[in-house]
Amino acid sequence: MESGLENRVVLVTGASGGIGSSMVRAFLAEDSKVAVHYGNQRDSAEKLATESEGRAKAFQADLTQEAEVERLFGDIESELGPVECVIANAGIWPAENVPIHEMTLTQWNKTLAVDLTSVFLTMRRFFIGIRNFELKDPSAVLIGSTAAVFGEAGHVDYAAAKAGISYGMLQTLKNEISQLTRSGRVNAVCPGWVMTPMAEKFAEDRESKARALQTIPMQKFGQPEDIAASAVFLSSPRLSGHLTGQRLVASGGMEGRVLYPPGE
Ligand SMILES: NC(=O)c1ccc[n+]([C@@H]2O[C@H](COP(=O)([O-])OP(=O)(O)OC[C@H]3O[C@@H](n4cnc5c(N)ncnc54)[C@H](OP(=O)(O)O)[C@@H]3O)[C@@H](O)[C@H]2O)c1
Repeated sequence: MESGLENRVVLVTGASGGIGSSMVRAFLAEDSKVAVHYGNQRDSAEKLATESEGRAKAFQADLTQEAEVERLFGDIESELGPVECVIANAGIWPAENVPIHEMTLTQWNKTLAVDLTSVFLTMRRFFIGIRNFELKDPSAVLIGSTAAVFGEAGHVDYAAAKAGISYGMLQTLKNEISQLTRSGRVNAVCPGWVMTPMAEKFAEDRESKARALQTIPMQKFGQPEDIAASAVFLSSPRLSGHLTGQRLVASGGMEGRVLYPPGE
C-alpha cells in the first residue's frame, strides 16, 4: 500500500542514533526527503545522508537551545523545503539507577531539558512553519517510552519527561494542530526496550533482562526497525489519516514492571 510520503520533507531528530537512523532508512524507502538531524555524531549522520543519493541531508543542532532549533529549521527550509513531518525522536536515558531520594537537581534539569524542553522547542518551530507555509497534512510523531506508561524505578526524570510529551503534550498539540489546519495530526510511539546503544548495557545484564521479559508476552526486545515502521505508519496520511492523539505502545505487549527477583 502506498504511504503517500513521497517527496514529503521529514525531519528525524536524533537521526544519528540507533532508532533514528533506522527511521531515516524507512522514510527514504518511501521516497521522502529526509532531514537527518544529529547532535554530536556528525559522521553517523553524514554517512546516512550519503547513502541516500541526494534525498537526505545532515543537519546539526543542540535541540535544548532555542537559537539552534531556529537555525535548524531555517537551514532545512532553505535546503529541502518546509518541514511537513517531524519525528521528535532525540533523547537521552541516564543509564544509572538513581532513586528520587538520591537524584540531584542537576540530573533532573538535564534530562528534562533534552527529553521534554527540546520537544517543546522542536514542535513550536514546526507549528510556526505550518502556519507560515500553510502546509497541508502536516504530521508529527513524538517518541515517548513505556517509562511514561508504567513508570520506571530509578528513572523518575526520564519517566516524567516522556509522560509529559506522550500524554499532556500529545493531547494538547493534536487539538492545536487542527486549529491551524484541519488535516494536521500529532501521534506518539512509546517503545519498550529496543536494541540500540541506549539499551545495550541493560540488555547485557542477564538478571535485568530476564526480569523485564517477565511482563512481555512476545519474549523479546524490539528492533529499531519496529519503531521506524510505526513512525512511518503514523506519518502517512494514507495509512493513518484519521488517527490523531494516539499512543502506539510498541513493546511486544509489555504489561508492567517486575521490581524484585523471585522470592525477594
Ligand atoms: N532504545 C530503547 O530501548 C528506547 C526505549 C524507549 C524509548 N526510546 C526513545 O527512543 C529515542 C531514540 O533512542 P535511541 O535508542 O535511538 O537512542 P540513541 O541511540 O542514544 O540516540 C539518541 C539520539 O538523540 C540525540 N540527542 C541526544 N541529546 C541531544 C541534544 N541535546 N540535542 C540534539 N540531539 C540530541 C543523539 O544525537 P548525537 O548522538 O548525535 O549527539 C542521538 O541521535 C529516544 O527518545 C529514547 O528515549 C528508546
